[in-house]
Amino acid sequence: MTRSGTRVHAFADSARFARDLARTAGRGCVPVRVHRFPDGESLVRVATPPGADAILVRALHDPNAKLVEVLLAGDALRRAGARRVTLVAPYLPYMRQDAVFRPGEPVSQRAVGRLLGGAFDRVLTVEAHLHRIRRLSEAVHAGGESISAAPAVAAWARTTGADLVVGPDVESAPFVRAVARAAGLPGVVGRKDRLGDARVRLRLPALAARHAVILDDIAASGGTLAATALALRRAGVRRIDALVVHAIFARGATARIRAAGVRRIVSCDTIPHPTNGVRVAPLVAAVLGGR
Ligand code: R5P
Repeated sequence: MTRSGTRVHAFADSARFARDLARTAGRGCVPVRVHRFPDGESLVRVATPPGADAILVRALHDPNAKLVEVLLAGDALRRAGARRVTLVAPYLPYMRQDAVFRPGEPVSQRAVGRLLGGAFDRVLTVEAHLHRIRRLSEAVHAGGESISAAPAVAAWARTTGADLVVGPDVESAPFVRAVARAAGLPGVVGRKDRLGDARVRLRLPALAARHAVILDDIAASGGTLAATALALRRAGVRRIDALVVHAIFARGATARIRAAGVRRIVSCDTIPHPTNGVRVAPLVAAVLGGR
């Protein structure tokens, strides 16, 4: 079996990332068609040469329906004769609920990991929120792998003229350290207490900087970035920019972050959003390997 027939199969809502990945990896790119029935169920259709490997691409923000459709597409690819099926989910949801925080809750990371691990030979994502586990394969047993966005983010950070990179909390520390090292910049992380879905309290260590870039894996309500920006302003930092890998940005989030004093908000292109400014397809293509 030759791998030359390997195709990238793209859901429409991740088409731009999928085309970039296909181009960078030297593969063809074909659409996954989705039909929604009146009762809310989905039917997906794929087209693959039998015996070829398949790379299915979809960012899984706004996740519930998308997760089901991705599982259906995995099944369709296998029934159509695909050999190895890889899911590339540039954003992988449910990774933050990685423990039973209150009695009666699930460990969503494990439950979703089991589903995906059972459906795919390999699951690649970018900068998964891994706090209590070190590797994605501990949650997604069949070939789960989280690719660091740090090289691409560091290249961007070097262009900003910043003299400090800042993470909001200990969970951001590995990412902040990796970017700081690759960009040749100092880095610090703060301490965050979450008070509600959109409210956080944040403290930073003593610092001296003129221009800081806040780094985080995800922005949702924007509360974390806003609180970090306010703490930086209290510390006398004059210019503040922010970069997040996954631009979830709930309604009003970017306005809230700007109101807290962030001049420029940039994201990686794992989730399509007007703030996208850092391409990560080359990092994913490098892990997928040659033709
Ligand atoms: C949390 O652990 C993540 O790393 C992010 O800091 C968090 O999800 C951001 O959420 P929000 O924008 O709602 O504060």
